[in-house]
Amino acid sequence: MIDDRLTAALRAARRVVVLTGAGMSAESGVPTFRGAGGLWKTYRAEDLATPQAFRRDPALVWAWYRSRQRAVAAAAPHAGHAALVRLAGRVPLTLVTQNVDGLHQRAGSRDVIELHGSLWRLTCSAGCPHVAEARPEAVPDDDAPLPRCVCGALQRPGVVWFGEQLPEEPVAAAWAAAADCDVLLSVGTSSIVYPAAALPSAAREAGAVIAEINPEPTPLTAHAEFVLRAPAAEALMRLEVVL
Ligand code: OAD
Repeated sequence: MIDDRLTAALRAARRVVVLTGAGMSAESGVPTFRGAGGLWKTYRAEDLATPQAFRRDPALVWAWYRSRQRAVAAAAPHAGHAALVRLAGRVPLTLVTQNVDGLHQRAGSRDVIELHGSLWRLTCSAGCPHVAEARPEAVPDDDAPLPRCVCGALQRPGVVWFGEQLPEEPVAAAWAAAADCDVLLSVGTSSIVYPAAALPSAAREAGAVIAEINPEPTPLTAHAEFVLRAPAAEALMRLEVVL
């Protein structure tokens, strides 16, 4: 199932970038955004994931994020997360994720570049630089007071909302890695949300080959040299076997 040319490219690579999306977490039981049962099929993003929604009803937004925190806290990384940790021991790998769930880190991946922030960071809604950590084992009840920053303003989930810029540092790190990689492996993302969806093109322009792991076709498929039509856990475990 793994093309020998992909194996050879991975073995010879000076740097491999892996870009993951919600499909990476699907087998842990964390819903994707756009598939069947996806979050944006059930909820309206503009009611829950915009700065305007937070200003209008911070309690509603926090209730939704706390329910997502609880769902992720109850989930566990799967065999594909573990395979990526071991792959990083064999090839020089930079892991870039659009996921905010922290499952890569819980599996043991280090230095994960989080393009869309994290459910486990709380930032200041008034823009002061103070950042706090949230713990999966201590997600507050819905009737708990909303969290406050040291400056007195409400804290907000440390994730990127619609209409917001991505954080500069992770973007710079991801694009620098893409410009310097020989293989980019896209795993479990619909490849339609920019700027993350442009990362494979940046790698390709720098001469990298593109491989995609996704049970479904995406806009990236046509630009990928290698396509593994399989769920993330199965495909990553197969890759690990051949490397
Ligand atoms: P999507 O929900 O848009 O896409 C998930 C992708 O995962 C789809 O292409 C599925 O075919 C694929 N998939 C499903 N199950 C899979 C499995 N077991 N193994 C591999 N792939 C599987 O999620 P993203 O592409 O991550 O942004 O969405 C990008 C961004 O849109 C998210 O980070 C989020 C959302 O709005 C923010 O919250 C800022």
